[in-house]
Amino acid sequence: MIYLQFAIPIKFATFAAKKFSMAFLGLFGKKRDRLVPLSELGLTCDMHSHLIPNVDDGSKSIEDSITLIKGLHQMGYKKLILTPHFMTGFYNNTADGVREKLETLKTELARQSVDVDLNVAAEYYIDYDFMHDLSRKPMLTIHDKMLLFECSFTNQHRNFDETVFEMQINGYKPVLAHPERYLYWHNCHSLMQEFHDRGILFQINILSIIGGYSPSVRKMATWLIENDMCDFLGTDLHNASHLAAIKNTMIPERLLNKLKNSNLLNNSL
Ligand SMILES: [Fe+2]
Repeated sequence: MIYLQFAIPIKFATFAAKKFSMAFLGLFGKKRDRLVPLSELGLTCDMHSHLIPNVDDGSKSIEDSITLIKGLHQMGYKKLILTPHFMTGFYNNTADGVREKLETLKTELARQSVDVDLNVAAEYYIDYDFMHDLSRKPMLTIHDKMLLFECSFTNQHRNFDETVFEMQINGYKPVLAHPERYLYWHNCHSLMQEFHDRGILFQINILSIIGGYSPSVRKMATWLIENDMCDFLGTDLHNASHLAAIKNTMIPERLLNKLKNSNLLNNSL
């Protein structure tokens, strides 16, 4: 069950976020690695989260969704593009289905006077139906034909190149969700560079930077940022423990400076 991987490591994320500061400085002990708040980046748009209730492994109720959205709003996010999983056999979502749920959520937020711009897209798993639909029906995009997609965490998709090509010839801009989390690519730096050069945009999870998944995922996220391959930072928010870990996130100052000087696209959406 591939999606069990989402929930388990994140239970340790809050703990990891607190301990990361000491561990990082303990290991390197250099002034240039001092930690600074990620909020200094001024992100106002998040484009990856699972806050439509009861459609995937994210929020389990409208009340949970409202609480999580309020939490992001308090952190400075003004626009949220919600991206439920689309994965045949696990999460059989439809565009009409998630749009309908979005409207319910928007109504409740308006009733509670939460001033946040809410949109819905999708996080597509690259399976047969995804390939089939690409040329046959409009897909849910995060913005301007940008298509958020994810792969298996355990095995490289044998048709990965063909799938990306299919997206591109159908006019879409592929955005790979959390490239740092695919363990089989952790020793493939040149391949990651090649993917990026071929037009795949990369969305890195904030939790990855603070060690919320594993040290090797953090290392890969850091390498991608250091090498100018972070196009989006996403919360990939599923639940309250994610929110607690992401709140008050501190990251090494050199990474923050790198991100400030990069072409992060979040706030352009
Ligand atoms: Fe996700």
